[in-house]
Amino acid sequence: MEALDQAKEAIAVRTGKVDIAMVLGSGLGEYADSLEGARAIPYGEIPHMPLSSVSGHAGNLVTGQKAGKRIVAMQGRVHLYEGNSADEVAFGVRLMATLGAETLIVTNAAGGISPELEAGDLMAITDQLNLTGTSSLVGENDEQRGPRFLDMTVAFDPQLINTASGVAAAQGFELKRGVYAGLLGPAYETPAEVRMLGTLGADAVGMSTVLEVLAARHMGLRVLGVSCISNLAAGLSKGPLSHEDVQETAGRVQSRFESLLSGVLEAM
Ligand code: HPA
Repeated sequence: MEALDQAKEAIAVRTGKVDIAMVLGSGLGEYADSLEGARAIPYGEIPHMPLSSVSGHAGNLVTGQKAGKRIVAMQGRVHLYEGNSADEVAFGVRLMATLGAETLIVTNAAGGISPELEAGDLMAITDQLNLTGTSSLVGENDEQRGPRFLDMTVAFDPQLINTASGVAAAQGFELKRGVYAGLLGPAYETPAEVRMLGTLGADAVGMSTVLEVLAARHMGLRVLGVSCISNLAAGLSKGPLSHEDVQETAGRVQSRFESLLSGVLEAM
């Protein structure tokens, strides 16, 4: 907790109080630059903030305004598979909550498992499977910040999902809905694992988000999660999976994703 306070102290004069936090995943980082009065703080200037090593993930905390709301956005995230602890993975989200954010909008790229999904779809996350084998809530608990035993019955805010669906419909596309399974990675799944995940109730699979959502809910934030279905998961897709293809699809959907986010911020 001391680390969080130090990080907040180092940047709070530059960020001020914020309303809404965002985590911008693969291919979405540029959205932060579209905030009015955007100001970036490189992660390297924030004490204790872990650095991202993945291509396509810039490392900046960006503040600015959109639709009259004060936004703070993580332009790029860190993952467990980079060797970070669960605590480190959630640090940015906790920091944004400490800056006063009451809502988290978290985005990612994911592989589609449900037959309802195709590459290029956007999916509102209705619930999650944390299959990373760890939790961002492991370790000492500060009751001031959140409860030891967190209720996760409603992890993703139904009202925000409905708002996002309405915005998507008004923009002329369907926002799909589904359960997101978060795995350690960094290898993509085997076809057998994808079949297993489908049996477990997963509609989409990725390597992020679940630990961030745990931390956000722990600190009382409302959460909206949106996945870009960048590919069909292994065994369901035609060829082998590659990070380049994932980025290519994420790039193709980028403008639609950005319009959705802006519409949601306006509607909130
Ligand atoms: N599996 C896991 N993570 C992913 C995928 C996938 O198919 N696509 C994008 N991120």
